[in-house]
Amino acid sequence: MSLDFLKEYELIINENIKKNIDKIRVLDKSHSSIIDGMEYTLLAGGKRIRPSLCLLGAEIGGLNKENILNFAAGIEFIHTYSLVHDDLPGMDDDNLRRGKPTCHIKYGEGEAILIGDALLTHGVRLLMEEISTVKIASQFEAIKLMLDSIGLLGMIGGQAADLQQEKAGNKSLGILEYIHKHKTGSLLEGSLLAGAILANSDNQIKKDLISYSESFGLAYQITDDILDEESSVEELGKPIGSDVKNEKLTYLKIFGINKAKEMAVIEVDKCKKSIGNYGIYGNHLIDLADYLLERRK
Ligand code: IPE
Ligand code: IPE
Ligand code: MG
Ligand code: MG
Ligand code: MG
Repeated sequence: MSLDFLKEYELIINENIKKNIDKIRVLDKSHSSIIDGMEYTLLAGGKRIRPSLCLLGAEIGGLNKENILNFAAGIEFIHTYSLVHDDLPGMDDDNLRRGKPTCHIKYGEGEAILIGDALLTHGVRLLMEEISTVKIASQFEAIKLMLDSIGLLGMIGGQAADLQQEKAGNKSLGILEYIHKHKTGSLLEGSLLAGAILANSDNQIKKDLISYSESFGLAYQITDDILDEESSVEELGKPIGSDVKNEKLTYLKIFGINKAKEMAVIEVDKCKKSIGNYGIYGNHLIDLADYLLERRK
């Protein structure tokens, strides 16, 4: 397994994020604390998995990743908004994110809500930046998919169910799967598929990428639940035990940690099997799936 590509993608995405923050600073001189908060949370760290999936989806479809860097960065803006809001006192009430005090701890709760809102809206704006090498209809389709994947049909739907299940004592596997597939799986799937759509990929590619991401998304959140119990604050950059504190419905709660680990392995296997022969970029997806079982953050 080699994750060198992820390092490379992380660098080019970070560069693009910085460029876009600089542009916002030129356009808006009146709300520097909001822009500071956006920059603070965006650049605190982050594995850049979602924008990387988008770039891989594009490359698999034959579109050079350099063409869609704003789109991929937009996805990271949107993901980062979801983290800022997820950490708020009314949600998971966490005080550490990406190894630093969470946005509301640093900037206050009201500002953090607005910083999240600004990340979301500017993220969507970045999805809409003109891409000269992509047909407008494909870009429109990709944006619509992204909006579905982060809205009520996707991430917000999952986050709402996640909140409703807190303390409810419900141990339904169906609800748990719904939560994980939506709060986490939807944006991961949307990111990969959007890249493929921008590349005007054929149906077989899209079908394979959808099967891949269904298992990838589930494995991603199962391993997130595992890390919440057995990683360390230093490695994870988030508090340990947040799920127990909030009485969340997780794989650990229903099955215990050992069975949860077995389930993550099964999903990663399914994920890898769903990828056809897509050359170097397909291999990157396979390495990314393996990485889920080894990650410590
Ligand atoms: C955290 O996502 C939230 C989940 C959906 C599990 P990541 O684990 O991808 O967090 P960053 O972006 O690397 O900080
Ligand atoms: C969050 O799931 C999913 C989001 C949409 C942000 P978690 O609440 O488990 O994510 P972490 O552990 O705080 O990153
Ligand atoms: Mg949460
Ligand atoms: Mg959380
Ligand atoms: Mg978590």
